[in-house]
Parts: sequence; C-alpha cells; structure tokens
Amino acid sequence: MEQHRQLTVVITGASSGVGLQAAKALSQRKEWHVVMACRDLEKTKNAAQSLGMAPDSYSIIHLDVASLDSVREFVQKFRATGRSLDALVCNAAIYMPLIKEPLRSPEGFELTVATNHLGHFLLCNLFLEDLKKSSAKPRLIILGTVTHNPKELGGKIPPRPDLGELKGFAEGFQAPITMIDGKKFEPVKAYKDSKVCNVLTMRELHRRYHESTGITFSSLYPGCVATTALFRNHYPLFQKLFPLFQKYITGGFVSEELAGERVAEVVADPAYSESGMYWSWGNRQKKEGKSFVQEVSSEASDDDKAERLWELSAKLVGLA
Ligand SMILES: NC(=O)c1ccc[n+]([C@@H]2O[C@H](COP(=O)([O-])OP(=O)(O)OC[C@H]3O[C@@H](n4cnc5c(N)ncnc54)[C@H](OP(=O)(O)O)[C@@H]3O)[C@@H](O)[C@H]2O)c1
Repeated sequence: MEQHRQLTVVITGASSGVGLQAAKALSQRKEWHVVMACRDLEKTKNAAQSLGMAPDSYSIIHLDVASLDSVREFVQKFRATGRSLDALVCNAAIYMPLIKEPLRSPEGFELTVATNHLGHFLLCNLFLEDLKKSSAKPRLIILGTVTHNPKELGGKIPPRPDLGELKGFAEGFQAPITMIDGKKFEPVKAYKDSKVCNVLTMRELHRRYHESTGITFSSLYPGCVATTALFRNHYPLFQKLFPLFQKYITGGFVSEELAGERVAEVVADPAYSESGMYWSWGNRQKKEGKSFVQEVSSEASDDDKAERLWELSAKLVGLA
C-alpha cells in the first residue's frame, strides 16, 4: 500500500542553499510533506525540479518574510491547505556586507533585521497555534550561526554583534534608525545582530511555551556552508577564496547537501527532541561529524535581554 505523507514541515527560504537541501532531504522521508515558503515561486519550482524532488512530496507557497503583510497572508494560505503544521524551519536570511546605506522593508525597518528576525518572529508567533494542534511532537527550528558568538573563532572577527540596550528597537526602528543598538549602520553587524536575535527568540520561545505546549524549540549551526548564495553580495574574490579557506584552513566547510541533511535531522530525528538546545557539528571542534549541544554567546544566553527583545519585537510587528 502507498505510504501516506502525514506530517508537514514549512521551510522559509527553501529556494536555494541550506533551505533547499533541507527541503530535499525531508521530501525524501516518506512521512513528510514539505511546504517551501519562498518569495520567488518560479525559481523555487525550478530548484525543486532540478534536484528531482518528487512532485507529491512538496508544495510552494509565496512568502516574502521581510514583509509583515506577506507573513500574515502566508499563514492564511497555509491554513487554507488544511494541512497540519508539524514543524517550522525559519531559515531565510540575507547578508549584505557591501552596502553603504541601509535598505528598508515594506514597513520601513532595516532590511537585514526585518528579514532574518522580525518577519520570522511574527511567523513563529502566528504559527504557535497551528503547531499546538499537531498530533505529532511538533518542532520549531531557527537557523543560527557561529558568527553570532564571539566565543568562537568565526565570531571573533569584528564587527562583533551587540544589541546594546536595544535602543533602536525601543525607538521604533524606522529611519533614520538603522541598528538595533541605535548606533551607526554596519551591514555585517546587522547580520550578526539578527542571528543573536534568532537564538534569543528560540530560547524565549522555549521559556514561554515549551512546558505548556510540548513544542520542541531549537536552533542549529549547520557548519560553514561557504558556497551558498548567502555570500552573493560579497566581493567575487571573497566568494572564490572563502570556500577554500574554510576547506583547507579552518576545516569548518560543509557542503550544502550535508548542511540540509543536518537541518532535516533536527526536524525529524528523535535525537533532537530536547527543547531549548543549540545544536552544532563544530568548526574547530572535531567531533567526528557528530552533533553536540553548543554553548551560545553570553549575549544570546541573557534571559533579561531575551524578554526585552521579545516585548519590543512584538510591538514592532504589531502583536503587542
Ligand atoms: N552559509 C553559511 O555558511 C551558513 C552558516 C550558518 C548558518 N547559515 C544560515 O543558513 C540559512 C540559509 O542560508 P544559506 O547559506 O542557505 O543562504 P542562501 O542560499 O542565500 O539562502 C537564503 C534563502 O533565503 C531566502 N530569502 C532571502 N530573503 C527572503 C525574503 N525576504 N523572503 C523569503 N525568502 C527570502 C532566499 O531566497 P531567494 O532565493 O529568493 O533569494 C534563499 O532561499 C540562513 O539563516 C543563514 O544564516 C548559513
């Protein structure tokens, strides 16, 4: 008898890189149906087809995660499919190291933080209701990165992340404000700050909702996936040398396929059912390819900051 796909996972930014490979890996597990939540439908369709993903194993729904209206529309469209929501992977992100002036989201927020943090923050909050209804053991996963953490080699390189007193958020995060700490615009720091927000959000979700809902909240660093389009806005020479540097010098390099498989494991495998964890396979730590729970940065483990970030983010996205 044909096996039924009963579980549904939504993956944001599944049109390329880690998200696409995670979609492929989960679509190969017969019990999972993958919803690819992407801003470019044609690109996503071509990407799924080029990887040979079975047509009944996935669907594509439009989501521009930088737009709060689009996030709300996406949730409605997903609900209209009648599917259960059993896992959510917040993966979409932008990294714009070379821009001199900030770009803005439709609501007027600095675009990197709007995409990587605020849109996902709203999505997580709206989808809590849906995850709660899952008859499986639901999971919510937010992609982290080593660069959020100045305790790690990859996080030591300046500019370091620092949300400060969240002054930029408290003052509305609209022009002329560009950074969460309210200071001068630094695009690399904006990315790192957004990734600190991702870890703080996961930890605060865990603190607020794990016990009452049973949802597993986790984050992961899948390794340095130096070939992805994340680096498309960097200098061409950097794009050429970075993978070689990661392969032969730091040893942190992982393929897009392996990174996607790691995400799929955190979504689906019993080994990752503990909530509030930040999973890693290491960079300089050599753990024979095995995952372990990694300590997050001091700022990302600050519970007071997590709560304050939550309250201010809720206000910015119109939840409070
Ligand atoms: N690459 C690494 O070394 C590395 C390491 C650690 C963690 N990560 C994390 O892994 C995740 C995926 O990164 P990646 O390396 O796979 O990069 P990527 O190939 O550039 O993928 C990013 C995805 O996000 C999508 N996206 C960007 N803005 C969006 C928006 N406004 N609405 C909807 N989708 C949007 C992109 O869509 P388009 O195709 O339409 O542009 C793309 O599908 C990120 O969270 C990143 O922080 C990456």
